[in-house]
Amino acid sequence: MTAPDLPAELKSALDAKLQGLSRNDAASRAAGISQTYRGGGGSAAIRTEADALAYALARMPATYAALTASLNALREIRPDFAPTNLLDVGAGPGTASWAAAEAFSTLQSFTLLDANSALRALALDFCRASTRLHGVAYRQGEARAELAKADPADLVVASYMIGEIGDAERKALAELMWGKTRDTLLIVEPGTPAGYSRILGVRAQLIAAGAHVMAPCPHDGPCPLLAPDWCHFTQRLPRSQAHRQVKGAELPFEDEKFAYVALARAPVPRPAARVLTQPVLTKVEVTVKLCTRKGLVIAKVPRRAKADYAAARRWRWGDAVMEEG
Ligand SMILES: C[S@@+](CC[C@H](N)C(=O)[O-])C[C@H]1O[C@@H](n2cnc3c(N)ncnc32)[C@H](O)[C@@H]1O
Repeated sequence: MTAPDLPAELKSALDAKLQGLSRNDAASRAAGISQTYRGGGGSAAIRTEADALAYALARMPATYAALTASLNALREIRPDFAPTNLLDVGAGPGTASWAAAEAFSTLQSFTLLDANSALRALALDFCRASTRLHGVAYRQGEARAELAKADPADLVVASYMIGEIGDAERKALAELMWGKTRDTLLIVEPGTPAGYSRILGVRAQLIAAGAHVMAPCPHDGPCPLLAPDWCHFTQRLPRSQAHRQVKGAELPFEDEKFAYVALARAPVPRPAARVLTQPVLTKVEVTVKLCTRKGLVIAKVPRRAKADYAAARRWRWGDAVMEEG
């Protein structure tokens, strides 16, 4: 399984860009971009090379970590999946392409699509430093127009992207992305109620179009969670010194909350359940919230059930539970 920290080639490409960079300037640009996102605005606030670099410094480690966690979940369900080509929709600095290259050694061709010229230029600089990604095709333009022209791919990914477009546009984009998916479509979003709700919308739309959920849900039925609850996961990632400076943060790590769905063309073997939230471990039992094929279950595994307890102690938020207890 892939580690959540940025791969060495990407780290050194990012480090090379830091030479002579004012951390204060990068921090204020990153703060401005985050504020725009929080206010419902999108990546249009990223206009210059300095903006793109500030965005990459502040956000790429976290979106990369969320992508590796989602790709790890997908690979656990389909260990034989060996995609040879990738479409990275709303690629920005190329985060999903780097994560997919790490996850799948079989990937040979990478097509990235994005409207933002500053992020595209930065992504291409990063890719030049990569043994796997130096020959990527990066098409600049509106996602739907570029997708319509693109060849289908084994793996299609839209990472932290579908929140930047309106509902009607999202429906059309989801349909187009699915049309270009030969095998698997992965959508990753921030782990907020709004991100989850967008994932749910695309999930329902594409199940109706014949998709099968690979992860996180162990079923294609309606989500059993009721508001204010929402399905999301968390991935811890290390923070470099530059990352801490740009975020004005002290801790040497960050926990990125994310929501995702991986959809496949063919039915897949499903786990019995998915662990939602971190299990609570006491001396007498493990209490765990599970999404199962039969709905939401709060399972209590008593210590006296030795083998089950030993297994349940190892469960972590986001894990697939393969066997029915
Ligand atoms: C938050 S960034 C995420 C970038 C990257 N996928 C990642 O995970 O780090 C969203 C990206 O989607 C792109 N985007 C948003 N709407 C788009 C559209 N309609 N057409 C093309 N690109 C779009 C933005 O330009 C931006 O690069």
